[in-house]
Amino acid sequence: MPKVGRPVEADGVSSGPWWRGAVIYQIYPRSFVDSNGDGIGDLPGISAHLDYLVDLGVDALWLSPFYRSPMADFGYDVSDYTDVDPIFGTLEDFDRLVESAHARGLRVIVDWVPNHTSEHHAWFVNSRSSRISAQRNWYIWRDPAPDGGPPNNWQSQFPRVGSGWSFDEPTGQWYLHSYLPAQPDLNWDNPAVVEAMSDVLRFWLRRGVDGFRVDVPQRLGKDRAFRDNPGLANEPLAGFVGRRYDEDQPATHEHLRGIRRVVDEFGDRLIVGEVYILDQRRMTTYVNPGDELHLAHNFTFLRLDWDASAFRRTLIELEQSLDPAAWPAWCLGNHDHSRIASRFGADGRGQERARLIGLLLLTLRGTPFIYYGDELGLPDSAVPPDLALDIHDRDRARGPIPWLPTSRVGLGAGFSRVVPWLPVASNAEILNVDAQAADPTSTLSMYRAILRLRRSSTALNAGPVEYLDGAREMLAYRRRSDFESWLIAFNFAVEPRLLEGVQGDVSDNDVAFTTIPDRPRLRMYRRRIMLEPLEGIVLRQHQGGGA
Ligand code: NOJ
Ligand code: CA
Repeated sequence: MPKVGRPVEADGVSSGPWWRGAVIYQIYPRSFVDSNGDGIGDLPGISAHLDYLVDLGVDALWLSPFYRSPMADFGYDVSDYTDVDPIFGTLEDFDRLVESAHARGLRVIVDWVPNHTSEHHAWFVNSRSSRISAQRNWYIWRDPAPDGGPPNNWQSQFPRVGSGWSFDEPTGQWYLHSYLPAQPDLNWDNPAVVEAMSDVLRFWLRRGVDGFRVDVPQRLGKDRAFRDNPGLANEPLAGFVGRRYDEDQPATHEHLRGIRRVVDEFGDRLIVGEVYILDQRRMTTYVNPGDELHLAHNFTFLRLDWDASAFRRTLIELEQSLDPAAWPAWCLGNHDHSRIASRFGADGRGQERARLIGLLLLTLRGTPFIYYGDELGLPDSAVPPDLALDIHDRDRARGPIPWLPTSRVGLGAGFSRVVPWLPVASNAEILNVDAQAADPTSTLSMYRAILRLRRSSTALNAGPVEYLDGAREMLAYRRRSDFESWLIAFNFAVEPRLLEGVQGDVSDNDVAFTTIPDRPRLRMYRRRIMLEPLEGIVLRQHQGGGA
């Protein structure tokens, strides 16, 4: 394998595993590129567009599930962990993708869904066939409660599903499913399950993957006494505060240590977990010990409102909760959440906010994850009710990438030569890749520029962060290394605001980056400068400049 990644120890601030200095790009394979004209994205389509990711300047891609699946939860219901679903291609297509990515210096991370399989997985087919089947104990089966109902009050994470238990008529018992009834939970207390799922990891590690995104790791450990959850709090996808015997139990950590040992057999690989726990002090217990996950996605951050002080509080709390030896990971969106340009766009200024927050994502201390299409400032797709597919209303965040203007190539927007499985994001005419690549003021050009700056800066890659006290609706921090110092600031307000704390005199030459391409000239007022409405800015500070 050619050497991939890039060194981050340029000025001696830090050296460490590759993923600390990396920017990781999430691809939802159904929606990146359709190579064979069935309206659904596939692996050969991704392979053919890797240069787009190289030009963007990311270091790794994470592929959401492409395994054999009945697609009840669009691939998060796996019926064969060691094969590619024919919709996406073949194992050979996967191998070619890894090879082409590595040849370009891009690493490849794949999704691993350990908490549940599809009901059509051979393990579950065997398990449900009889109470004495060889794999009965691979899943979580319980007798009915005395009233004949489900064994306890645990709920599916999808409110439309209701109870987390389904009754299996032929064998007279209930099985647990934290998501759809078509996604039975595996029994991680059974060593045979641990072994089989470890072999799944080894299968992909041997094929050359650089790591895994672990689906809902906090679910792997359940209360062994199956106690009722206090209350029935069951908010839409993850209002996890204040419950629970059905997740985040001590057993979870035991299982993760075992998983880490398997991954470590292969050297410098990454496991990043979707630890969907909206309490940063608990979430960080998955990375602080150092022998569980390397990184955990932070959903407290992802779910913040447009409020600079809430961002500041959350960022500081994270830094205080995280062990000094651990490392943050940041994401602003994924396939389960409305896109940032829409989430913050109710007043029509979603594009400006998406740029501001994109700069924040890429300049925080930690490993950023970009959700495909956010580099274009894509809003959600408009999905009319008769085209809706997902049980949990997440279709809108999963629209295909518009590569070309629809006026030129039709509704497929260069994603597909036919009508795509979901409508492309609205505004494809303006926001498509082709148009944005040609426009130096576009969101895509902004992402490319900031990733270039990041790549050349040890302070941004690896330096510490210092949050400044800010005026209302302002967020500001410093990133430093031995040789450079940046002041990075964000005006969350829709009016101009003064930024305090600028060191020394700064001029237009010190603006390394701004999200407002045609901003007026910089003006200093006694160590303060005026930021434009919704501006994010990176200022070069001269070392030793007096405060
Ligand atoms: C989290 C995934 O991101 C989501 O898409 C899925 O529905 C659940 N886990 C269940 O696998
Ligand atoms: Ca296809």
